[in-house]
Amino acid sequence: MTIGISDIAFATAYQVLDLQQLADAQGIDVGKYYIGIGQSEMSVPFPDEDIVTMGADAAAQIIARHGADGIRTLLFATESGIDQSKSAGVFVHGLLGMGERCRVVELKQACYSATAALQFALGIVARDASEKVLVIASDVARYALDTSGEPTQGAAAVAFLVTADPALLEIEPVTGLHTDDIHDFWRPNYLSTALVDGKYSLAAYLGALEGAWGEYRSRGGAAFADIARFCYHQPFTKMAVKAHDRLCKVAGAELDKEQRLAQIAASLQMNRRTGNSYTASIYVGLLSLLERDEADLAGERIGFFSYGSGSVSEFFTGVVRPGYRELLRTARDAATLDDRVAIAHARYRALHEAVDAVQGSDYETAAETPGPYRFAGVVDHVRRYETRG
Ligand code: CAA
Repeated sequence: MTIGISDIAFATAYQVLDLQQLADAQGIDVGKYYIGIGQSEMSVPFPDEDIVTMGADAAAQIIARHGADGIRTLLFATESGIDQSKSAGVFVHGLLGMGERCRVVELKQACYSATAALQFALGIVARDASEKVLVIASDVARYALDTSGEPTQGAAAVAFLVTADPALLEIEPVTGLHTDDIHDFWRPNYLSTALVDGKYSLAAYLGALEGAWGEYRSRGGAAFADIARFCYHQPFTKMAVKAHDRLCKVAGAELDKEQRLAQIAASLQMNRRTGNSYTASIYVGLLSLLERDEADLAGERIGFFSYGSGSVSEFFTGVVRPGYRELLRTARDAATLDDRVAIAHARYRALHEAVDAVQGSDYETAAETPGPYRFAGVVDHVRRYETRG
């Protein structure tokens, strides 16, 4: 039996800040962002958007095509959870009118947890081939204003359906793992913005890649030369370039700069415009690769490196199924990025500061998002969501 991803859908926040705006406000050359870290824009949520509205937006596209019948598990992966106890997935389950016979749970391990969700989903389907698992990865990446992480912020969600005999991508069984108890990036319960040791986090990411790749190979994983494309966790797209350079070196692959870039370039295009989306980022990268790579990838193997600070990481592979292009929502996803409302630096900054101001109190949000679902506010400490009429 083959198991993997049958469908995958994308959503992001409905506002966008061009990093030129940020560079101008900081009085620096935008080349540091456009070229140095490889980011051109960041998605910025309206006050009535969050991980639930973005996750529902992505998942609704899957439900519209396949129906909710038979989805007995919903796994919601996030770093930016909105409740310490209740899964954000239960809110999505309610918004989408899914049936009662469904287990719903939230998973956390920084940016890695969507890959944990994928692996758990594969296990559920391996046990019973009639099972379908809906995985949602959704995050709003936030750092404190005026810190080195600020230009890498962003927001996006990806939803995907894991089934037997998958139509899009068969996930292969061999994986390589690497876990290390470190503090490269973390977020204490009392903070709405992440803490990070920037330079150390880059070194930790690259060290984890070597560890996970080493285990992958030692367990009988494919040789580097048998992998056509690579898809990395992308805190900023230049990180994936650095990672692929490192992997080529470790694997002894003698490719020039252009050849190395050709193996990852298409996977970077969407993340360059959303900014970091933590758990969703590697799967935004997968969508970007499938939608924007000019080559026919049917039958080709993709290598994935998923990294979650703290840190847990995994290297695994998937093989693209014939006919995959017909399942993609390429034009829609491009429009989702193009149609975001461009905002000025002053509005971005005011919205960033407003997040902490409302913590713990009751409030209503103004109806601003043009998206299908909205966060209406908090009443008696309960978050309220609604479908936009
Ligand atoms: N034109 C072109 N390039 C320029 C430039 C210009 N005008 N000015 C600077 N650059 C280049 C620099 O040379 C540098 O390139 P290299 O990395 O290739 O040397 C690049 O732009 C960045 O410049 P700095 O290193 O000076 O930037 P910084 O120190 O201000 O910030 C950072 C970089 C530490 C990565 C910061 O963005 C950060 O803290 N990010 C958040 C942490 C992060 O994303 N870590 C990644 C690993 S952890 C992870 O993956 C989990 C997660 O999601 C967070």
